Amino acid sequence: SGEPFVTATFSAPTNIAVIKYWGKRDVKLNLPINSSVSVTLNQDDLRAMTSVMISPAFEKDRLWLNGEEEDVSKSKRIQTVLAGIRAIATDRTLADGTVVPAAELADPSKWRAHIVSANSFPTAAGLASSAAGYACLTRVLAEVYGAAEPTPNALTAIARQGSGSASRSLYGGFVRWNMGAAADGSDSFAEQVATADHWPDLEVIVCVVSADKKETGSTAGMTTSVETSELLAHRAAAVVEPRLSAIEAAYTARDFPTFGAITMRDSNQFHACCLDTFPPIFYMNDVSKRLIALVHRFNAKHGSIVAAYTFDAGPNAVIYTTKAHTAALLATVMAHFPRPAALASDAEYVSSAPALEA
Ligand code: PMV
Repeated sequence: SGEPFVTATFSAPTNIAVIKYWGKRDVKLNLPINSSVSVTLNQDDLRAMTSVMISPAFEKDRLWLNGEEEDVSKSKRIQTVLAGIRAIATDRTLADGTVVPAAELADPSKWRAHIVSANSFPTAAGLASSAAGYACLTRVLAEVYGAAEPTPNALTAIARQGSGSASRSLYGGFVRWNMGAAADGSDSFAEQVATADHWPDLEVIVCVVSADKKETGSTAGMTTSVETSELLAHRAAAVVEPRLSAIEAAYTARDFPTFGAITMRDSNQFHACCLDTFPPIFYMNDVSKRLIALVHRFNAKHGSIVAAYTFDAGPNAVIYTTKAHTAALLATVMAHFPRPAALASDAEYVSSAPALEA
């Protein structure tokens, strides 16, 4: 006997935007001022892993993140994701054959969720930990509640309300988050543009410059940017749409020089918008700037764009390249940023924060 329960475990990788999302037109619903596209990393790289158990035996919804309990009653975003999934729950057959009707399963006064989540990389250091986290939460809750998508990509719109960038982490490969036009957010969802195996030659090097928590959270930063940056308004009105078409075509054609050029320019414009915000926001530091210079020198040496950096809301660099250049690029980076004495071995140097991750 014992209390009934349903349980599931999933992991979700993070994604790294090449056309950045920066700016909300609706903060509550996480509706963006521009569409964005990203590449989802491999499962075994930077990922979130989440287990959920739901049961009528639990007194309340609870969540543990990286071993620490978070107060679910204080997190609107987690509550929104939970409510979004509960709204599309279906009848569940338990191990003993009993059927729990959807209405009972989805009633938070009857069945509650215990959620345990951990990241394989620094949380809130500009490595899109919220993207993997909320995508993973959405997916695993959908599994335990037997959630049925009322329309294609509907789960991505639920993940979006946890964290905008999370909408893009439910699919692998190259993913576009459409900004949409509806006030209720119903057409602001993500869709897969190309699968990961479309471009297996594409590689990513993640340089962990700092594993510290970022100073300006993305929501606060976006709010100030939308209120004060004329450059951001221009970007949303005139720059992003043509770039989206161009970079999707480049990804489809596996045209690295074009893909790389747009990626670097878009990262730079995003950080220029941050500088144009008043008071200004600085996410990159001197090490980030040295990495930018290093990539440009590496490309100049090759006579074409073979590597492309991009930075999110933090100083860590993500460098896209192709298999033919990965080893040389990694060697160049490591030659310019020698292993800190605190790290015992080269193996530790390339695999652990806060030095350099490959
Ligand atoms: O959705 P958030 O709060 O993780 O915002 C992400 C913003 C950037 O990472 C800077 C850009 C992006 O599109 O991922």
